Amino acid sequence: MIDRLGRNINYMRISVTELCNLRCRYCMPADGVCDKKSHAEMLTEDEMIAAIRAAASLGVRKLRITGGEPLVKKNIVSICKRAAEVEGIEEVCLTTNGIRLTELAKPLKAAGVNRLNLSLDTLSAEKYAYITRIGSIEQFWAGFDAAMDAGFDKLKINSVLIGGFNDDEIEELAKLTMKYPIDVRFIEMMPMYDSGDFKEASFIPYTKVLEKLPEAEAMPPDGGVAKLYRLPGALGNIGLISPINAHFCAECNRIRLTSDGKLKPCLHSGDEYSLKGLDYEEMRAMMESVIWNKPEWHGDLDAIHRSRAGRNMNEIGG
Ligand code: GTP
Ligand code: 5AD
Ligand code: SF4
Repeated sequence: MIDRLGRNINYMRISVTELCNLRCRYCMPADGVCDKKSHAEMLTEDEMIAAIRAAASLGVRKLRITGGEPLVKKNIVSICKRAAEVEGIEEVCLTTNGIRLTELAKPLKAAGVNRLNLSLDTLSAEKYAYITRIGSIEQFWAGFDAAMDAGFDKLKINSVLIGGFNDDEIEELAKLTMKYPIDVRFIEMMPMYDSGDFKEASFIPYTKVLEKLPEAEAMPPDGGVAKLYRLPGALGNIGLISPINAHFCAECNRIRLTSDGKLKPCLHSGDEYSLKGLDYEEMRAMMESVIWNKPEWHGDLDAIHRSRAGRNMNEIGG
């Protein structure tokens, strides 16, 4: 469906849970989800599928399942399978920290998931344990191997750029594209509600990546939000995602649905419209009006102007 500003909204991101088996410092509090929502507040699997059907009837063709960590959701394989079967849905993708892929990569592929994006901010075991607070990089790599073996269309790695933490690893992370047929994307860190640990110097611009990789050549876009580059001889692309220093709101093609049923027309807007308890027709009507009125852009966003989403990233799904 085309919104009032002429953007074609054909991509829905669904966060299926706000819970996670890691605690990344830029994403969620150290103690995990403090005021955990009750089961009754969350969308049921049937409500999620009804929302996907409504979205597909309005022109959504691509779904991305997110979290929290989507693979801690008990019925994740069933959700993906039913989502992939909805008429009109052409691609089901999933963004994960990879930890549970050793068990789930094959079942997800069999359920119809086309692509996976995996989060990895560092190659150092110590730094991984620090940034995720409770994670082990061995588990990540075991999950990565399982995903490579399962035969998804294309794997992408997401690395959040953090000044003073991983800016010295940009070359090494980028070199993963020389070894594997994957994309590695560097993402400007977005200042969320509770990401208070990070000082101004932590927010580094995507241009820093290009300074570190002078040999990278620009590549044609693939329809996503990343600007693409490639190292000579590489098997995959380098992507730069710049929500802060070169925002992409004018080309935004997406809406979001949270696990408690709130439709969010923009990641950084406080506007939320509840689908919880609505039937298919009511969901469709609500979605149509929310898409039409999607905000023009996310407003100022930097170390001082934090996101107006009113939620942390784990409650939205990125
Ligand atoms: P592809 O389908 O592979 O292009 O994935 P994607 O980039 O759409 O999804 P992914 O979940 O891998 O997100 C990568 C990063 O982009 C995360 O940090 C998201 O928070 C961020 N991102 C995704 N969509 C938007 C958006 O609409 N606005 C902003 N500001 N950031 C976004
Ligand atoms: N800024 C940018 N990216 C973030 N992610 C989580 N929190 C932030 C943030 N504050 C990324 C994760 C994951 C994706 C869904 O969003 O690393 O790859
Ligand atoms: Fe979990 Fe992803 Fe947030 Fe890390 S970024 S705490 S893996 S939801």
